[in-house]
Amino acid sequence: TVKEDEHPVHIENMKGDIELKNVSFEYEAGHPIIKDVSLKVQAGHMFGIVGKTGAGKSTIINLMARLYDVTGGEITIDGVPIRKIAFDDLRRNIGIVSQETFLFIGSIADNIRYADPDATMEEVIEAAKSANAHEFITKLPEGYNTKVGEGGISLSGGEKQRISIARAIIQKPNILILDEATASMDTRTERKIQAAIDNLKQGRTIISIAHRLSTLRDADMLCVIENGELKEMGTHDKLIKEKGKYFELYKLQSEALQFINE
Ligand SMILES: Nc1ncnc2c1ncn2[C@@H]1O[C@H](COP(=O)(O)OP(=O)(O)OP(=O)(O)O)[C@@H](O)[C@H]1O
Ligand SMILES: [Mg+2]
Repeated sequence: TVKEDEHPVHIENMKGDIELKNVSFEYEAGHPIIKDVSLKVQAGHMFGIVGKTGAGKSTIINLMARLYDVTGGEITIDGVPIRKIAFDDLRRNIGIVSQETFLFIGSIADNIRYADPDATMEEVIEAAKSANAHEFITKLPEGYNTKVGEGGISLSGGEKQRISIARAIIQKPNILILDEATASMDTRTERKIQAAIDNLKQGRTIISIAHRLSTLRDADMLCVIENGELKEMGTHDKLIKEKGKYFELYKLQSEALQFINE
């Protein structure tokens, strides 16, 4: 349903100043999912989104990438209304490593160069190495030529996620959106993924959704979404001092960790 403007504005290189002004959204008429959310993501910063499952976090990033149009309010990127921006520029500048990784039928190499079909094999391998995926790929029967998707071999959730990180590394987006997987992974895989993501973060505008709050320790700004509403916004230190919702979420996780350590 999303349509490109007839006279789209071109932004070759987005800086990544993203603003939501009184944004509302519903997937189905009469069922508001996002309610009057206003926030600013500053270019070059890392912006964290936290909140319980079903709160509307993934919906917000879908709107930021214009996978859907807002039903109320407005979103701008670098001051330009997102509805006016050329599709090409949105796709090139915004990369998403999402909760559900999509692999299509083809080789591993093709899946990695999806965002840049002209990428050379050297570039594909380089990206896979930074994504901590090279090791498992080389152990597959046909390495980078191994077919995945229907009829091909299947990969684990953690392996798929590293493929999608490699894909984002090739894309080199100015704005990188990370939607953390809820599926639990073993600690070793999780560390590898975290290290891959750290490589990717350098010099970009980052919007990161995390369930494990420790992933957001580097965030410049954090917001808490609850039931489609923006409840809190600030730095980690500020939100901890305020002893509100972020503090409660943080305390719950620290207590759980403490329990494990005992
Ligand atoms: N395509 C869709 N059509 C209709 N409703 C949807 C759709 N996608 C999500 N929803 C609903 O919108 C609400 C917010 O979903 P969203 O995926 O944004 O939550 P979330 O905060 O990302 O949750 P999680 O932490 O589990 O990923 C949920 O009630 C969900 O059921
Ligand atoms: Mg989600």
